[in-house]
Amino acid sequence: MKTSACLLLLGMSLPVLADTPQQILERLQVEAGAAASPERGKQLYLGKFGGGKTDSCSTCHTTNPRDAGRHARTNKVIEALAPSANRERFSDPEKVEKWFKRNCNEVLNRACTAREKSDFIAYLLTQR
Ligand code: HEC
Repeated sequence: MKTSACLLLLGMSLPVLADTPQQILERLQVEAGAAASPERGKQLYLGKFGGGKTDSCSTCHTTNPRDAGRHARTNKVIEALAPSANRERFSDPEKVEKWFKRNCNEVLNRACTAREKSDFIAYLLTQR
């Protein structure tokens, strides 16, 4: 278990090495021109859409963002998406963009908007 003091130190040292989830979230909110909604993010995370190859984000990432999941087809383990459970999440903007693009296509059959991405991250940040 990480202590909050440890998290605080990490939060202070990370910006030098990489972005924080908050920084990525803030940029997306500016791009979207609106404040992110964790509630909408939750609907995106848990919703079943049926428009793409996989029904839901939670099919691979599980219904609890703090749990490790499994790829629906390859069965490979996927580490937890919530930054509170996996501090590498949302620290590399290129990785974040790459996977949003791939996975939104997988589930929604289209790219996610900046607003959807910011909602999604805002929801994950509420998972402690
Ligand atoms: C078919 C399985 C699958 C589905 C469905 C899926 N993902 Fe993923 N997701 C992955 C894999 C595989 C990775 C990359 C491996 C890793 O980072 O652990 C990943 C990583 C991510 C990342 C990277 C985060 C980071 O900073 O490391 C984001 C963002 C993401 N997914 C968002 C979504 C969203 C949004 C949805 C629903 C629209 C979704 N995923 C649905 C398999 C999936």
